[in-house]
Amino acid sequence: MSERTSYVAANWKMNKAIEEAEAFLGAFLPKRAEDGPEVVICPSYLALKATVELCAQSRARVAAQNMHEQDGGAFTGEVSAPMLHEIGVDAVVLGHSERRQYFNETDEALARKVPAALAAGLEPILCVGETEKQRDADETEAVLSQQVSTDLAAVETAQLDRLVIAYEPVWAIGTGRTATPEQAQEAVLSIRELVRSRDQSAAERIRIVYGGSMKPENAAELIAQPDIDGGLVGGASLDPDDFAAIVAAA
Ligand code: PGA
Repeated sequence: MSERTSYVAANWKMNKAIEEAEAFLGAFLPKRAEDGPEVVICPSYLALKATVELCAQSRARVAAQNMHEQDGGAFTGEVSAPMLHEIGVDAVVLGHSERRQYFNETDEALARKVPAALAAGLEPILCVGETEKQRDADETEAVLSQQVSTDLAAVETAQLDRLVIAYEPVWAIGTGRTATPEQAQEAVLSIRELVRSRDQSAAERIRIVYGGSMKPENAAELIAQPDIDGGLVGGASLDPDDFAAIVAAA
């Protein structure tokens, strides 16, 4: 039985402005038990501060969905890790497949962003995962290996367990097609083995979660897998009852 504390994050993507974020938290926060998994809410940049304030009296923590790799400078429209840290944000989603697909996020940029997040005191939630075409071509392990080794290349071994990794098969995100518990376990285990090739004890401590059409109906079975430590939840995290049910299953 692993001693890792389960980790469940709500990735709201480009949904919920401040009022909706407040309404969600007003409904969700009283539903969660004092113990149980770590819960992280990932709202849009605009709703971060209100979310930090509302979560301050609870055990829920707050993550941004992206950040720039530099601490500051002439990068119009961007937000840096120290800026997020200053307003009380604890973590940041990096390398989400939507950012890789629509905003040209590369593994080379992630190799700079992950250490920048750690240096600013943010916990990176690094997303990796294969496309359907890559899975069909039996390339899943190779893709995960390439992403994990490049994205973490500049992270010191002693800092590896300060990250959370989310295995998010691209074909399962927002599609209603969840990976089977066996598929998800196999991929998550292969990620853990990649971490083990750097450091045995970091591999035991690092949280690796699953994301991709996780719902109240399938969360318990996925999170019960020996190497799956929780979930990164998109669509089902928009509803406080559904998200609370997933948290209760973790
Ligand atoms: P989904 O999204 O739960 O809507 O599939 C997961 C994610 O993108 O993190």
